Amino acid sequence: MSILITGVAGFIGSNLARAFLCKGKKVIGLDNLCRGTLSNIGDLLALPDFRFQRVNISNLNEYRNALNSILGGCTVTEVWHMAANSNIPAGVNDAGVDLRDTFMTTFNTLEIMKELKISTIAFASSSAIYGDLGGAKLVEDIGPLFPASNYGAMKLASEAAISAAVESFIDKAYFFRFPNVIGVPATHGVMLDFIRKLKVTPDNLVVLGDGTQQKCYLHVEELIDAMLFIREKSSDRRNYFNIGADDEGVTVKYIAEQIVKTVSPEASISYGIGNKGWVGDVPKFSYSIRKLHNLGWKPKLSSAQAVAHAVKQIALQEIDSTVC
Ligand SMILES: NC(=O)c1ccc[n+]([C@@H]2O[C@H](COP(=O)([O-])OP(=O)(O)OC[C@H]3O[C@@H](n4cnc5c(N)ncnc54)[C@H](O)[C@@H]3O)[C@@H](O)[C@H]2O)c1
Repeated sequence: MSILITGVAGFIGSNLARAFLCKGKKVIGLDNLCRGTLSNIGDLLALPDFRFQRVNISNLNEYRNALNSILGGCTVTEVWHMAANSNIPAGVNDAGVDLRDTFMTTFNTLEIMKELKISTIAFASSSAIYGDLGGAKLVEDIGPLFPASNYGAMKLASEAAISAAVESFIDKAYFFRFPNVIGVPATHGVMLDFIRKLKVTPDNLVVLGDGTQQKCYLHVEELIDAMLFIREKSSDRRNYFNIGADDEGVTVKYIAEQIVKTVSPEASISYGIGNKGWVGDVPKFSYSIRKLHNLGWKPKLSSAQAVAHAVKQIALQEIDSTVC
């Protein structure tokens, strides 16, 4: 009896696999390593309860063949589908990126679930499905939804495809709508970008946009805790939850200042023009997590505390990778 995690070598997938293995579960992990790395799961590869296969799951035949070769008599009881394109601007420039890595990976996962009679899916959705509502509180039941990026569009389309599958061949679906998740091993995101930029130009940090973008940040340890909590406590056929910090978030300016203070205290910060980092960026959002509160889970860290914790972790990660 195993749990299948797609995108297992990525930031969230690797933390999730570790959490399941700590609970004594068996994990089968798939990833094409387009962004995730083997070093993210290096400590897991030797464990008897963990099996990994490198595969592009946007190709259904490859997906099927990889599972045939790795399952070896194991039964998969549920899928945690974490694989997606995580470079949102790349999907704005080329919509095919999100069609392939964000939507087709979901579509194919559902096909595989039908073939293998797997009854439960947990899906990494996103605040990006809500689009740009000018900072209005994002509540799970609002609609109609108009995403502002192809990434958000393909996440929303994935939710729709999963919902339809619930009507026909799967029993239960979990839609976890994350805000910005931070921590290690960081594979992408504003904090990693800033730290890497400062490595190249230690005297100056160039920020895309005017720094006033304000978003909610959640540490990955809290995200995993919340997802496992929801999985245990909520048993509707469709379980959909915002997961986030319980505040209005912090600005990009705040993050830039924290990073400069930690990594390169003498550096100046140059801001761009306008409050969007890229086309499809949502400059301000405010997240309602009342539904999650009502279920009984509350985050321990504010967005600012999560940022402070993650800045130190990512800075260390980057020093270690330079030393290696
Ligand atoms: N990190 C965040 O802030 C955040 C916010 C909202 C939603 N999410 C969602 O959470 C999930 C995990 O995100 P993450 O931050 O860990 O990103 P990540 O890029 O670190 O992980 C995604 C993994 O999927 C893999 N992948 C992509 N396309 C694939 C394909 N065709 N076949 C096989 N593997 C493929 C990548 O190699 C990567 O390891 C994603 O679905 C993402 O959209 C993340």
